[in-house]
Amino acid sequence: MRFYYPATLGLALLLARPALAQVPASASPAAPQLGKASLKEVLAALTPEEKVRLVVGVGFYPAGFPPGLLPPGPPGGDKLPEKVPGAAGRTHAVPRLGIPSLTLSDGPAGVRIDPIRGKDSTKTYYATAFPVATLLASSWDTALVRRVGVAFGSEVRAYGIDVLLAPGMNIHRNPLGGRNFEYYSEDPVVAGHVAAALVRGVQSNGVGTSIKHFAANEQEFNRMQLNSKVSERALREVYLRGFRIAVQQAQPWTVMSSYNKINGTYTSESRDLLTTLLRGEWGFKGLVMTDWYGGHDAVAQLKAGNDLLEPGTLVQYEVVTAALQSGQLSTAQLDQNVTRVLELVLKSPAFKGYQPTSAPALKANAAVARQAAAESMVLLRNQGQALPLQAGQRLAVFGNAGYQLIAGGTGSGDVNKAYTISVAQGLTNTGYNVSSTLGQAYAQYLQAEKAKLPKQRGILDPVPVIPEMPLPAGQLPDYAQNSDVAVVALGRSAGEGGDRQVAGDFTLTAPERVLLRQVSGAFHGQGKKVVVVLNVGGVMEVASWRDQADAILLAWQPGQEGGNAVADVLSGQVNPSGKLATTFPIVYDDVPYGQNFPGKLLDASAKGGGLMGAPAENTYEEGIYVGYRYFNTFKVAPAYEFGYGLSYTTFGYGPLKLSSATFGGKLTATLTVTNTGKVPGKEVVQLYLSAPKGKLDKPASELRAFAKTGLLAPGQSQALTFSLSAADLASFDTAASAWVADAGTYTVQAGASSLAIKQRATFTVPRALVVEKSRPLLVPQQPLADLKAGQMAPVGR
Ligand code: BGC
Repeated sequence: MRFYYPATLGLALLLARPALAQVPASASPAAPQLGKASLKEVLAALTPEEKVRLVVGVGFYPAGFPPGLLPPGPPGGDKLPEKVPGAAGRTHAVPRLGIPSLTLSDGPAGVRIDPIRGKDSTKTYYATAFPVATLLASSWDTALVRRVGVAFGSEVRAYGIDVLLAPGMNIHRNPLGGRNFEYYSEDPVVAGHVAAALVRGVQSNGVGTSIKHFAANEQEFNRMQLNSKVSERALREVYLRGFRIAVQQAQPWTVMSSYNKINGTYTSESRDLLTTLLRGEWGFKGLVMTDWYGGHDAVAQLKAGNDLLEPGTLVQYEVVTAALQSGQLSTAQLDQNVTRVLELVLKSPAFKGYQPTSAPALKANAAVARQAAAESMVLLRNQGQALPLQAGQRLAVFGNAGYQLIAGGTGSGDVNKAYTISVAQGLTNTGYNVSSTLGQAYAQYLQAEKAKLPKQRGILDPVPVIPEMPLPAGQLPDYAQNSDVAVVALGRSAGEGGDRQVAGDFTLTAPERVLLRQVSGAFHGQGKKVVVVLNVGGVMEVASWRDQADAILLAWQPGQEGGNAVADVLSGQVNPSGKLATTFPIVYDDVPYGQNFPGKLLDASAKGGGLMGAPAENTYEEGIYVGYRYFNTFKVAPAYEFGYGLSYTTFGYGPLKLSSATFGGKLTATLTVTNTGKVPGKEVVQLYLSAPKGKLDKPASELRAFAKTGLLAPGQSQALTFSLSAADLASFDTAASAWVADAGTYTVQAGASSLAIKQRATFTVPRALVVEKSRPLLVPQQPLADLKAGQMAPVGR
């Protein structure tokens, strides 16, 4: 693994090291103390050198990295004892002023720290692997996500971490995004509300979060030099909207800027993004930190409002010091950055003297992880009521993923967990009679294949795929004879460091196709059912093979308790109530501009491709038409649409009542949902809005609110209320630099998915409303036309 080492900063290393006044390291009684004296007094007491240290992290010294591979940290950083081994980042302490060091740690599905410290393995430091973000969003249940956040945050606190580097909330723009599992949805309203719920839960423990990666970081390709070219409208309506919701609803303690540029400027160096928009327009009160080694020009970052440079390098320390001395960086600017660091310190457990227990409630939190997973899995198909399975049935579990659960993705989104429960194990735990002959064959095969795999060199190395075990065709009739149902588990892993491929990743591999064909042939031949469990972190092609399965459960990457949660759903102990927060297209070529993903090198002869890579760009040509906004507006049928998901029961939707037929600044929509089936269940109701034809081109409909019922017994009803504000009606008019709601008739639609609209109601807006004025921000270098419905021919079809 190589790390990008900014060229101009490298040059600065050649310059003479600027010398700043040395200061006593220990507390001096006369010096003002943080928390006791005012911030102004503390600032005045800080030396310039201490100020520079406070905005540049201590460096990164992960175990197992050969010396010299990572850029060196600021002077002395490598000597500071590490408080939480494996945590990704730290800030400098200034003990004489009572300023402690903060510890920052990944990641989005659980605390990522080293499970073993030094040679002593008598005590372990495992963390709970919660389900990945994409699964949590499929719950559409903010109360559930908040509970996950509370449990998650309790581990952050117990381990002595001050800020969790999560949640990730970029947009599922394309199914091949390698880090999509770390993110929630293709829709910013879902992403924003779910992220806000997680932030509130985590922060209720008195620890911080860092919503990331701000923004337009939807691919890994050349990520540190990639320019995301996006129209202002698409940025505002799709890529920034979720962050805005999370900021305004939950005030995360920090935001992490992303690696990429937006329209020519690194996000970490963009004052438009970090100051004018985030702080000015949205009212963010916290600190902004870089992504690890992100950006290019440390001084520009501080000036933009990126207060903390993580993990911190010697070069950054040198460059900022020199800029302070030359006046290129003003003391006033640095003081503002330092103030934000100090405000963060004041809130932290480290400052408050919390003594980490390193003993999180792993057992209780595993139960939370299991419940969240079971409540969020999406039942995609259930022909002839193949599910739920009957108690005590004989099951034959096929597929590597049936025996080796993929709990989550890789890279910084991975978690060092104590165990994982496989699908076969979970079904056994639930009382099913799972074929042990087949289990043994898989165990032997997987053990032999694992021994052949190359050794992982680092966390960004992709996990090598073990091909599906070839099944002797002659044995299948026996398995079918001796079992009631076949369960075929198919797995996918991806993560930081690369994007996914179409062949054999988005689509099935050849051995997977053979497996499905054989199992389905043998079992269906004997009148037995086939259930497919998808243990995946991202969207897959399902249309070409789904007919071979009676039922398909999308289990996502469900965290360490995944196998138990799958069994909860397959057995009917939990009635599935998850719905897709991201579209499943029929074929990859249906994804708008999918052929242009993940972007192109600016110099075709450059050796790019990797993380640090070479200068590259990716144009978000589809504009606002991301996910269902595209599929539903351009009438491209998906395999499973946004918002889709089945249940073991059925629901009736009563009439949709609006508080007024004319919009007067606010409106409520009410509707009653009834469980019309035979078993208890929960329903997610989605509220979409269609705008009248006006000056701007608009998607067919856009999600504006959602709610989930409680567990409704058969016959039981629940009234749900949604509210719509003027902002919910508005689109961003780039020419006017304003959010504008056109005059005319709006249609509110209550749906069981984006296509299964159950009830409609209309209201009018008598005169166009200018909801919010802004000014041109993050403007593309060359104009990017906003795409118009009907004008776009998707590439590849
Ligand atoms: C990732 C971040 C992560 C950071 C610290 C970066 O490579 O992009 O998401 O928080 O590393 O591990």
